[in-house]
Amino acid sequence: MSGKEMRLLHLTDLHMRHALAGTADRTERLSRDIPANLERVGKRLEDWSPDVIVMTGDLLDVPDEVVDGSLRETDPAGYQQSVEESAADYRWMREWLEATGRDWLVIPGNHDHRGAFHEVFGAALPDDRINGWRFVGFDDDLDEKRAPFRPAGEVSRFIEALEAETTSEPQVQLQHYILRPRVFRRSLYSHRPESGIVDGIEQSGVVRCALSGHFHPGALCRNEKGITYSTAPAFCERPFPVRLIDFDRWSVTDVQDRTLD
Ligand SMILES: [Fe+2]
Repeated sequence: MSGKEMRLLHLTDLHMRHALAGTADRTERLSRDIPANLERVGKRLEDWSPDVIVMTGDLLDVPDEVVDGSLRETDPAGYQQSVEESAADYRWMREWLEATGRDWLVIPGNHDHRGAFHEVFGAALPDDRINGWRFVGFDDDLDEKRAPFRPAGEVSRFIEALEAETTSEPQVQLQHYILRPRVFRRSLYSHRPESGIVDGIEQSGVVRCALSGHFHPGALCRNEKGITYSTAPAFCERPFPVRLIDFDRWSVTDVQDRTLD
């Protein structure tokens, strides 16, 4: 494609269980098929030729009572075992990413265990320069109504990323929860407009693309300023979709979905 300066492969909501026992509660999430399907992705990389691979959360499907720590009270040994299995699965995924030979970035989602995730991927969330772009990833949370919000520490990182003196490069921002469009299912799937995240992005002039997950059907929209909001469909469900995003110097030029099945 003419003018393409960077290609990104976006995989999200993998909900993998490999060392972790069982599978996701929702039967369409094929947790135990994910390692084999990542191997299939690996075989397509030469053809797809991404420069960067991004995963926007729910890498694993850690049981809720392990993610929220409640199992630690009722079954400390079972909790510890699940955390160790989660760390083993994150290590498996990290080794898969490293074996691709590409740049890669990951952030956690609501089904990830923060302790095990950071043990394997490090304490710092992404803030990296790749191919002349700055990639900034955030760790957002769900409130008691399961609506997304950005915790104070992450708001500070967000504000810092948009400050004029740090914004000489175009940015891609990563967050698990969707920014646009606004999606409501049983609960709110998107960040509230009052969060100021979309306003901050649109006023910044430097964020050209926001990548999200969480909303398994996926979504895509582009505003009048040419900012692309892309929520890739969940990799854990058939037909195992991934999204390829092409960039020129300052914007997204093409978005293509591919499937394994
Ligand atoms: Fe999620």
